[in-house]
Amino acid sequence: MLLSELPTPAVLVDVRRLEANLDAMQAHAEAQQVALRPHTKTHKSVDMARRQVARGARGLTVAKVGEAEVFATAGFQDIRLAYALVGEDKWERVIALSESGCRMGFCVDTGAGARAASDYFHARGLKAEVLIETDIGYGRCGVRWDHAESVRFATWVDGLPGLRVVGILTHAGHAYYGPHSEDESLSQALERVSNQERDRMLEFAVALREAGVRAAVDGSLEISIGSTPSIRAFTNRVHEGFRITEIRPGNYLYLDMTQVNLGVAPLDAVSLTVLATVISAHDHDDGSRRFFLDSGKKVLTSDGAYASKGYGQLLASWQPMTPMSDTIINALSEEHGWVRTTGSHPVTVGERLRVVPNHACVVVNTQRTLFLVDGERVVGTVNVDGQSRVV
Ligand SMILES: Cc1ncc(COP(=O)(O)O)c(C=O)c1O
Repeated sequence: MLLSELPTPAVLVDVRRLEANLDAMQAHAEAQQVALRPHTKTHKSVDMARRQVARGARGLTVAKVGEAEVFATAGFQDIRLAYALVGEDKWERVIALSESGCRMGFCVDTGAGARAASDYFHARGLKAEVLIETDIGYGRCGVRWDHAESVRFATWVDGLPGLRVVGILTHAGHAYYGPHSEDESLSQALERVSNQERDRMLEFAVALREAGVRAAVDGSLEISIGSTPSIRAFTNRVHEGFRITEIRPGNYLYLDMTQVNLGVAPLDAVSLTVLATVISAHDHDDGSRRFFLDSGKKVLTSDGAYASKGYGQLLASWQPMTPMSDTIINALSEEHGWVRTTGSHPVTVGERLRVVPNHACVVVNTQRTLFLVDGERVVGTVNVDGQSRVV
């Protein structure tokens, strides 16, 4: 099938760019001597997970048990929930997955959550593998890496009868904030957060060893970090016998305007685009032209991107990737993308255009199927097997 025959809106994945992105991250992990445990929340696809594992990824990361069920059913045997998992319904399903032969782990970061999980597993004669979720600056979940209370918490969890501490885990989501002052460049900002993520986790590991947390003492402690931007600038190092052991980037295989604007990747590395049709166009009295795409919030989503005003970047050409100048998707209805242009691109009704979305992960979750493309040819489809598996 040719791209020109594909009904729109459609989410496309350029197969060559995809494979280059997958290869580059695997090579980076190997160069830094860490296991790559990709976060599958970006693709939610068994096909993509297989491509990652075939290249050397060791295990998968998910956020939700429903995602874990999708991948375990497809035969993946080592899945970690990078998520503070709370609730008997969730632990019960984790046990079912473990009993089916899949190694499972999840995060704890509160006394209440850890105590209840321990009671639940212990009452069934089991011990769950847990990682202490650690906050190294983002401020979402996790115990602070630098608080004495966090060390006491980890030691206490280590002593609970139903849990076994296997590691510490953080997500440097503040890598998405960009430079913190005008004097800092994009790459300096990535490096700052990446070094902070690495160094604070290594420091926390040392404190856990001093406090006697068993995995830290016997050297098996897993130290898991990662977001696509922070991993872009990641270099591993040894600190008092500890190294980062695992990285969990997710977005890197598709990329999006957020990553481009943060300086994580060039526009030409983005593999995922939305193919949209111009369904209406009107001239305005102020000399601008307004046109409408058949892709609104339900495809492009309402997410913004760092340093970007619109809801995705329209392209004037795909090879090489060239932004459409003086054109902005400045509003979205559910099924309409509102575009305003003062540029010279001669947009016509019926024309098909490509958009680089602001946030690929949420765009993917709007679809059941993505289309793999090579140039002008549609060469396959990708099922979004974990679509909407948010429970
Ligand atoms: C806990 C956790 N780990 C890893 C990732 C992957 O980060 P990214 O989407 O930047 O690749 C995320 C993303 O939200 C996350 O929340």
